Amino acid sequence: MHTMQLPGIRVSRHETPGTIEKALGLLADYGPAARAVAGGTDILLELSRRVRPDVEVLIDLTRIAGLDDITVADGVLRLGPLVTHNQVITSELVVRHALPLAQASLEVGAPALRNRATVVGNIVTASPANDAIPALWALDASVVARSTHGERRIAVRDLFIALRRTVLAPDELITSVEIPVLGNARGMFVKLGQRRAQAVSIVSLAAVINLDGDIVKSAAMALGSVAPTVVAARETEEFLVGRGLDDDVIAEAARMAATVHPIDDVRATASYRLDEVEVMARRTLTTLRDGKERSRWPSNPITLAPAMIDRSEVTGMKFRTSHSSASSVVCIINGVAVEASDAAGRSLLGWLRNRVGLTGTKEGCAEGECGACTVHLDGVAVLSCLVPAARAHGSEITTIEGLAKDQIFHPLQKAFIEAFAVQCGFCTPGFIMAGERLLEECPHPTPEQVAQGLSGNLCRCTGYYRFYEAIKEVTRSE
Ligand SMILES: Cc1cc2nc3c(=O)[nH]c(=O)nc-3n(C[C@H](O)[C@H](O)[C@H](O)COP(=O)(O)OP(=O)(O)OC[C@H]3O[C@@H](n4cnc5c(N)ncnc54)[C@H](O)[C@@H]3O)c2cc1C
Ligand code: FES
Ligand code: FES
Repeated sequence: MHTMQLPGIRVSRHETPGTIEKALGLLADYGPAARAVAGGTDILLELSRRVRPDVEVLIDLTRIAGLDDITVADGVLRLGPLVTHNQVITSELVVRHALPLAQASLEVGAPALRNRATVVGNIVTASPANDAIPALWALDASVVARSTHGERRIAVRDLFIALRRTVLAPDELITSVEIPVLGNARGMFVKLGQRRAQAVSIVSLAAVINLDGDIVKSAAMALGSVAPTVVAARETEEFLVGRGLDDDVIAEAARMAATVHPIDDVRATASYRLDEVEVMARRTLTTLRDGKERSRWPSNPITLAPAMIDRSEVTGMKFRTSHSSASSVVCIINGVAVEASDAAGRSLLGWLRNRVGLTGTKEGCAEGECGACTVHLDGVAVLSCLVPAARAHGSEITTIEGLAKDQIFHPLQKAFIEAFAVQCGFCTPGFIMAGERLLEECPHPTPEQVAQGLSGNLCRCTGYYRFYEAIKEVTRSE
């Protein structure tokens, strides 16, 4: 096989520590051969693309208890390092105190991806297209980084030194994100992508302004996807202070934002980006002036996590373990206890298909883009191509094979057949696994909620209408 065709994430050990101290110790011991994994949605792709050839060991943080708390105290909103984008968008605290971050998290990928992808993972990957970064930048957030040597606080604005590079040392973990609450300030994040979900930003923009009556007391504006790192629109920030936000001031401030020197790449030309920066800056400042930044926030964003899992049941010391490729992963799949080896170095998708023999879950892209590999991990829809297989140890998994009960199809499976929602059928398991969680979470979804719930699943045959029909059919028959 050509090296690009070789499957797997190519690590030889998967460590699952039970405490942050143990995780820090492992990082210190293994040195550059080890890398932390949270949701895995960035690092697994980097490993399978051989971007990090030195990494041999993954240190999985997701079983450590108490790392996904969201709290507010003394004017600071704190997020633990395992807070996912879906936790952010369903957190009343984040929406109230740090709206730009909630708006950014809602733009990340699609619901099943957001069930595992974390805010901290987004920061550390340090792509200028990563949506949480401009939001946190404009909000003047900081991170707390810890190693076996101690702890330090770093402003998000000082974190990035080059494309995909941060000032973090290899043995440091981010243990908290700290965001000053908006209070009376207004803030907002917007993104331009090529489609409504699963789209890398062409331009993203976050702004926070503090008004004294009509006059701007302070302003922050950060631009994503226009340079190797997220950048501040400094001229705009300085120009706005002391001025009233009338249409002329806004137009001039937006024009100044468009004096950055954007990148030309496959997603857009530099001149298109420049035009869009100006349009987005103008609209954002106008929306903030009019106090309408919350008007399009969805009241019940879809997560495909019907009851947000009780993290205390899936974290803690009883899950700590260490896997080599020889050791067994023991879990419950479709209600049956399963034990199989060869998990370290594989994705859950590869392990389910090749080691467990459950081939109903499909591999469309192996990159999180198509949703064909959707399964339920501890009750939550996830993309199995982006979950390390060893993470399944001690978990409950449902695959498409487990949806029918006593050989009777699930109502959604029946509805797919009756609505002819199948052509080649390759995408069908993924759509049904996502659709089933959608209906569990929201038994009578609006068309917009159906669109949100299925936005991470691609079909190249049907045109989608039949899927919508099948979902509607199930809600009608209830
Ligand atoms: C199909 C697809 C679509 C996507 N769409 C978007 C999008 O629209 N917008 C967007 O912004 N991103 C997008 N992403 C990127 C990705 O999902 C996000 O960046 C995500 O938030 C990463 O979080 P994670 O928990 O999965 O990170 P991981 O992959 O687990 O880790 C990412 C990096 O962070 C490090 N790390 C993790 N936790 C810590 C810690 N506590 N301390 C120090 N280092 C740590 C890891 O070692 C790794 O280097 C997409 C990815 C895919 C595959
Ligand atoms: S999203 Fe996993 S195979 Fe495409
Ligand atoms: S039915 Fe063929 S890809 Fe969806």
